[in-house]
Amino acid sequence: MAKNIAIFASGSGSNAENIIKYFENSNVFNFPVIISNRKNAYVHERANRLNINSVTFSKSDFETGEAILEILRENRVDAIVLAGFLLKIPEILINAYPDKIINIHPALLPKYGGKGMYGDHVHRAVRASGDTESGITIHYVNKNYDEGNIIFQAKCNVESTDSYEDIANKVHALEYEHFPKVVEMVFGE
Ligand code: GAR
Repeated sequence: MAKNIAIFASGSGSNAENIIKYFENSNVFNFPVIISNRKNAYVHERANRLNINSVTFSKSDFETGEAILEILRENRVDAIVLAGFLLKIPEILINAYPDKIINIHPALLPKYGGKGMYGDHVHRAVRASGDTESGITIHYVNKNYDEGNIIFQAKCNVESTDSYEDIANKVHALEYEHFPKVVEMVFGE
């Protein structure tokens, strides 16, 4: 039977859209709801186009977690994918979904993780460091930012001439290629 996946996204939602489209013609997953903490996030427009219900909760809803848990239960959600989601996941959700929440981080954790390290902040920090590689990390979510067990990493080269936007583009390409496959590997059986 198809599993129900909730995607959490705070921003553009390009990974959310990529994952949903990847599974469009399969019966592995349903995506009954996209959950955001930002009313104006572009992910809502994508959800609308994809005909998927999207909802916004406040920061305090995410801190207590009760309302989120309720909507997950209403939608019979089996697992959660964080795709550019920037708030901490409350313990009540982690306990309700043990090993059923995964996150993507746009760098090679444990480098460039933790609070405030998201999106372009990460790519700017990589650029400033002089590192010669970056990449993506997909990991289980626990109660500390970016510290859950790592499931998958992929790398890209960082050239000395790359701008932080160039690094972002390389990392996004890795995300689009690998994230749907890892979602299937982790939650598909
Ligand atoms: C992605 O690059 C994702 O790895 C990153 O936010 C971006 C969201 O892009 N996540 C984090 O930085 C989490 N700490 P999208 O909204 O277009 O998918």
